[in-house]
Amino acid sequence: MKDDGPTGFDLARLLAERGAERYELHTRHLNHQLPRMLRTLGFDKVYERAEGAYFWDADGNDYLDMLAGFGVMGLGRHHPVVRKALHDVLDASLADLTRFDCQPLPGLLAERLLAHSPHLDRVFFGNSGTEAVETALKFARYATGRRRILYCTHAFHGLTTGSLSVNGESGFRDGFAPLLPDTEIALGDLDALRRELKRGDVAGLVVEPIQGKGVHAAPPGFLRAAQELLHRHKAVLIADEVQTGLGRTGDFYAYQHEEGVEPDLVCVAKALSGGYVPVGATLGKDWIFKRVYSSMDRVLVHSASFGSNAQAMAAGLAVLAVMEDEETVANARRTGDLLRERLAALVGRYELLHEVRGRGLMIGIEFGRPSSLKLRSRWTMLQAARKGLFAQMVVVPLLQRHRILTQVSGDHLEVIKLIPPLVIGEREVDRFVTAFSAVMDDAHDGGGLMWDFGRTLVKQAVANR
Ligand SMILES: Cc1ncc(COP(=O)(O)O)c(C=O)c1O
Repeated sequence: MKDDGPTGFDLARLLAERGAERYELHTRHLNHQLPRMLRTLGFDKVYERAEGAYFWDADGNDYLDMLAGFGVMGLGRHHPVVRKALHDVLDASLADLTRFDCQPLPGLLAERLLAHSPHLDRVFFGNSGTEAVETALKFARYATGRRRILYCTHAFHGLTTGSLSVNGESGFRDGFAPLLPDTEIALGDLDALRRELKRGDVAGLVVEPIQGKGVHAAPPGFLRAAQELLHRHKAVLIADEVQTGLGRTGDFYAYQHEEGVEPDLVCVAKALSGGYVPVGATLGKDWIFKRVYSSMDRVLVHSASFGSNAQAMAAGLAVLAVMEDEETVANARRTGDLLRERLAALVGRYELLHEVRGRGLMIGIEFGRPSSLKLRSRWTMLQAARKGLFAQMVVVPLLQRHRILTQVSGDHLEVIKLIPPLVIGEREVDRFVTAFSAVMDDAHDGGGLMWDFGRTLVKQAVANR
């Protein structure tokens, strides 16, 4: 096949000619609220280039990424080893996705992934976090022969219909009913779990060991006790490690923080992609897979057209190799401890700063009612308009003035969540803590631009009601 000469398609030229239309195109053809929201916050930047934990704009300004594409960029952007693996897999011209053969890469990735959870035996590869969860829900139901799944208040497991049925926020669920008849319990509520299990129709409990919304960890001992109860009632424990997995919390999986926890199904996605190729993986016990795929007739009973594709598998293998070579999990733990300690030391200094929590490089910074009269009236004004506006007031100057990208950890929450690439070190910790302190100094000043912006947010919130 001829591989030179004009093809009629030139990506570089297309980007050069039409890249500047990005916001307009989005407004016209995609979710128009995204550019609207970005413009409102002054987040409508044009980033030209990215590497590791940084982006750069056209003027060469660097931006520190403390969001990692919602956790997808575990190794940072454009890791050279992952990138090379992708070039290599394309150059290999593999006979991929024939669907009626067994390719080597999925088996190798499954083997390598399973080495991190020795109590599990098999893997199903899909294409996203929500698909990993859907798989776990289906497998739990089929293997136990029961219908009902339990999930936790404030849980987030993805937004397709099955995952939405185990979402613990009405904001996501409203208007999409009827969903699956699953049941919510509070994170850590063993009595509620016991009560629901007694009804005899529960297939399993799906849980994030540390919830993405608000960065709340399951109380110590809960996962272990829940596992025992579930097993006693012939139900399964599903750990959703889509966000917390692959080193994010300073262990390979967050459930490993607690001894004796051995979930029956584990959902993985995000960082396994290397930031390049969407992937989801559902790891599980042999008996569960053996029940789902119980006969040759059932070979395709659960499958996905793009599942196990060579690019995703190559990226995943490269990610796991890099994590070992660069000791990424240990770095996440060490750097996370440092960042949390430095932030926790500010709690006494700033009355609006109430708590710093989390594990590894998954950190929640919670704001709350100040003690002084001067700040309290301003705080009350914000709260009356909409909860979460103060956290927004912090996130905006962090980007505008200090070029650091962060996010508010969910609607109506006064919590900022930090989930930076796991490759950050002391330099990035210093930069973040210095910038955050400067923003908090401004906030405690009580006057100035920051509270002017707060008043603008209040007006918008009231107008949006
Ligand atoms: C814990 C958890 N589960 C599932 C998902 C869904 O993943 P995806 O967006 O790849 O469908 C997310 C995404 O943020 C998540 O944080």
